[in-house]
Amino acid sequence: MPRMTINDRPVEFDLDPQMPLLYALREAANLTGTKSCGGGDCVGACMVIVDGTALRSCRITLAEAEGRLITTIEGLSRDRSHPMQQAMVAEQAIQCGYCTPGIVIAGAALLDRNSAPTRAEIEDALQNLCRCGVYPRLVRAVQRAGRVIQRRESISAAPAPGIEAADAAQRVPALRAVPEPSDSGD
Ligand code: FES
Repeated sequence: MPRMTINDRPVEFDLDPQMPLLYALREAANLTGTKSCGGGDCVGACMVIVDGTALRSCRITLAEAEGRLITTIEGLSRDRSHPMQQAMVAEQAIQCGYCTPGIVIAGAALLDRNSAPTRAEIEDALQNLCRCGVYPRLVRAVQRAGRVIQRRESISAAPAPGIEAADAAQRVPALRAVPEPSDSGD
């Protein structure tokens, strides 16, 4: 059974190792912030960070995710305070919102490597489709988040979502938390 770390939590999936990570996240782990394109061409709404790189979770199997560190949109911050989340709100870059989780993940992964990316670097990192066409705002949001990371600017945090990812996954039998070493009873 594939084991990996999702949002800092070691987990084991009792699922077919060939299942795409996307479906395990959404249907077994209740991490529905990662969006599915619904069987059409992938538009990047399913992006998660895998060992520091933003990847499309519909194209990774659970077997391929074995042993890796996964961060979903829920794990980026507990209170929507990640600079990329703050900047998306501040720049009004969220319209219908469908592309938003993938954009935030792609931007966060880029800024983690380079907090002052050029416009070309941002456009290269944001290959996601935004069907509302707010690309200029998306680019500005990444630039602004970079300034926040560099402490050249601050933005008030958006309201907290009021739910913990761990709580959402509590009653899902296909997902089990692997006990921490300190929980082993010594
Ligand atoms: Fe609607 Fe980007 S905000 S798809």
